[in-house]
Amino acid sequence: MEVHPFIIVLVISCFATVSYAHNVHLSSLNQSLIVSASATTGQGVDNITITWSFNPNLTVSDSNYTTVEAKLCYAPVSQTGRNDLKTDDNLDFDKTCPINITDAPYKRSNNTFTWIIPKDTPSATYFVRVYAIKANNHETAYGQTTDANKTTNLFQIDGVATIEQKGSAAWPLISNSFGYRYAWLVMLILMIL
Ligand SMILES: *[C@@H]1O[C@H](CO)[C@@H](O)[C@H](O)[C@H]1NC(C)=O
Ligand SMILES: *[C@@H]1O[C@H](CO)[C@@H](O)[C@H](O)[C@H]1NC(C)=O
Ligand SMILES: *[C@@H]1O[C@H](CO)[C@@H](O)[C@H](O)[C@H]1NC(C)=O
Ligand SMILES: *[C@@H]1O[C@H](CO)[C@@H](O)[C@H](O)[C@H]1NC(C)=O
Ligand SMILES: *[C@@H]1O[C@H](CO)[C@@H](O)[C@H](O)[C@H]1NC(C)=O
Ligand SMILES: *[C@@H]1O[C@H](CO)[C@@H](O)[C@H](O)[C@H]1NC(C)=O
Ligand SMILES: *[C@@H]1O[C@H](CO)[C@@H](O)[C@H](O)[C@H]1NC(C)=O
Repeated sequence: MEVHPFIIVLVISCFATVSYAHNVHLSSLNQSLIVSASATTGQGVDNITITWSFNPNLTVSDSNYTTVEAKLCYAPVSQTGRNDLKTDDNLDFDKTCPINITDAPYKRSNNTFTWIIPKDTPSATYFVRVYAIKANNHETAYGQTTDANKTTNLFQIDGVATIEQKGSAAWPLISNSFGYRYAWLVMLILMIL
């Protein structure tokens, strides 16, 4: 029986991207990043500019930080009644921040990223969280645009448009990421075409 090479690659790469339980708890991380987002409320805003930097005033070392991941996170008001968006201190189970904004090599300061909000982003109230990641891919620190109780500096995204062609929304995710993490997604698209 002939097996299409794409299928082999797809199967292998799917296994490679299966996330293993790493049992990291948010409460155990150092909140050593300062994160801000251009305040956006209401309609017509199609991008958010996010900045982050290491807080040098803490007695925390950033020597283990290798990359950062910026994520869009649901505020409590948009999580009520949504089991699929539940917050869990164990990041393996946490559903607060399901939307990837970008990832990048870790830099101590002067980080800015303007995110064009994908058209399929659900209408909801959000904040932004940035994780610092160690070489073993475990989160080791974070920062967020809101306070611990997630009440300040929240912003609203209004489903920007609905008539956009399906599929196009995947491209910003791919182009924003670096490395091979999304290679399987590209394979999938190639197979469908
Ligand atoms: C971001 O949105 C603002 C306000 O709508 C606009 O002036 C600016 O050109 C946008 N930037 C990008 C990179 O799309
Ligand atoms: C760090 O401390 C300096 C001196 O007290 C202060 O000016 C600065 O605003 C602090 N930075 C942050 C991010 O808290
Ligand atoms: C938090 O910072 C302290 C002090 O640098 C360090 O000992 C500890 O390992 C850090 N925690 C994490 C999860 O990286
Ligand atoms: C960095 O990682 C190494 C190896 O896991 C560990 O020994 C060290 O304590 C870590 N340093 C900090 C500041 O977290
Ligand atoms: C977001 O990024 C994480 C970590 O890189 C990855 O495991 C996850 O699959 C990504 N999610 C989406 C929807 O692309
Ligand atoms: C921050 O980045 C801008 C644009 O890349 C650059 O002009 C500026 O010198 C940088 N500032 C620092 C402190 O690195
Ligand atoms: C968060 O809310 C709790 C209970 O309402 C309050 O005791 C605590 O001070 C708040 N923490 C912050 C950082 O606002």
